[in-house]
Amino acid sequence: MYNFTHDIGTIVHFGKGQIEKLPGAVKQYANKVLLTYGGGSIKKNGIYDAVVKGFKENGIEWVELSGIDPNPRVTSVREGQKICKEQGIEAIVAVGGGSTLDCSKAIACAAFYDGDPWDLWTGKAPIQKALPLLTVLTLSATGSEMDTGGVITNLETNDKLGAGAPILRPKVSILDPTYTYSVSKYQTAAGTADIISHVLEVYFSRVTDAYLQDRFCEALLKTAIHYGRIAMDEPENYEARANLMWTSSLAINDMIANGKACAWSVHPMEHELSAFFDITHGVGLAILTPAWMEHILSDATVDKFVEYAKNVFDIPVEGRDKFEVAKEAIAATKKVFTDMDIPTRLSEVGIKEDALETMANKLNIPDAYVPLTSKDVLEIYKACF
Ligand code: NZQ
Ligand code: ZN
Repeated sequence: MYNFTHDIGTIVHFGKGQIEKLPGAVKQYANKVLLTYGGGSIKKNGIYDAVVKGFKENGIEWVELSGIDPNPRVTSVREGQKICKEQGIEAIVAVGGGSTLDCSKAIACAAFYDGDPWDLWTGKAPIQKALPLLTVLTLSATGSEMDTGGVITNLETNDKLGAGAPILRPKVSILDPTYTYSVSKYQTAAGTADIISHVLEVYFSRVTDAYLQDRFCEALLKTAIHYGRIAMDEPENYEARANLMWTSSLAINDMIANGKACAWSVHPMEHELSAFFDITHGVGLAILTPAWMEHILSDATVDKFVEYAKNVFDIPVEGRDKFEVAKEAIAATKKVFTDMDIPTRLSEVGIKEDALETMANKLNIPDAYVPLTSKDVLEIYKACF
């Protein structure tokens, strides 16, 4: 894949060495930034050095907020809010995976809010204004580098909530696939499962006449399925890392969702799992997805599964029983995840059976592709145990 620059709200500088574009991009917005990152992977792989070198050479002042956890906490958002208010921060540069980027989105709007930032995530206060956000992506998964949302965890209340607003979409994102060479096999698999799930949440929609978006979805699915295992086995395979990175952005930047998005199904179910048990998002999705598919398979949905079987997995469909084809597609979906060594049972990732009901009771998704009540969610959780 050649380098390119793509502009769809977020200006994307994609490819090797694109970090050199960061200082110029920052200077369009700020002379003083908050630099956010996670537990230190960017210090081990040299990305931190590349970022601050650019700051120093271009007279950009910065303050750091590090230690942002996977499944980022509202406590980090509060810390960032305080720094922004006290230190005259003009923009945020987030370097990391989805957790760092999401936390930075929340800080960006909290900087203009006088109350507790959690209010902005529960909907108690509207997100009206935000600092400009620029990102340097280090893990292909969430698409936070190009979307308007973020997910924040409050451990005091066992809530993991998604929120967002158009002003939170990053202004500029640096996507250098070589920055993902150091991502572990486990996180590569989880990230790929996340990408696949983002597409499935849109592909399985009540809108049935969005032909183009469906073909885009199938191409994104095939790309993620093809390259996920390759990137695990050959972490420095540029082709695999590049295709996964661009797929992660396009899966959730609204390109496929426009015109056909309805409420998501598997993500809300997973968010309860990670809110209560702090599990890896993509792993939870991979466990739940086949069980969700089995749960919603019916006369009303079987044709969509046949389309999925034929166009994504090349499963023969002519003259065959539709349900048999659909079940083969669900088995193929499960195999995609097991081929990436992702566990298949909730019990394997530390979920406690006695918590299933409490988590399920928090959910009711009437606007999903197939409406889900708490009872449905509990059945799906149980089927994964
Ligand atoms: O914290 P560091 O030290 O950087 O290590 C991270 C972390 O331990 C590591 N990592 C990241 N880049 C690396 C690397 N290790 C080596 N080399 C690199 N280049 O990977 C671990 C996981 O990072 P994290 O940012 O948590 O992963 P991910 O990108 O999967 O983000 C997950 C979070 O995003 C939310 C999830 O719920 C979860 O909280 N989501 C955000 C979405 C959005 N903004 O639209 C949508 C998603 O559906 C998702 O819900
Ligand atoms: Zn996701």
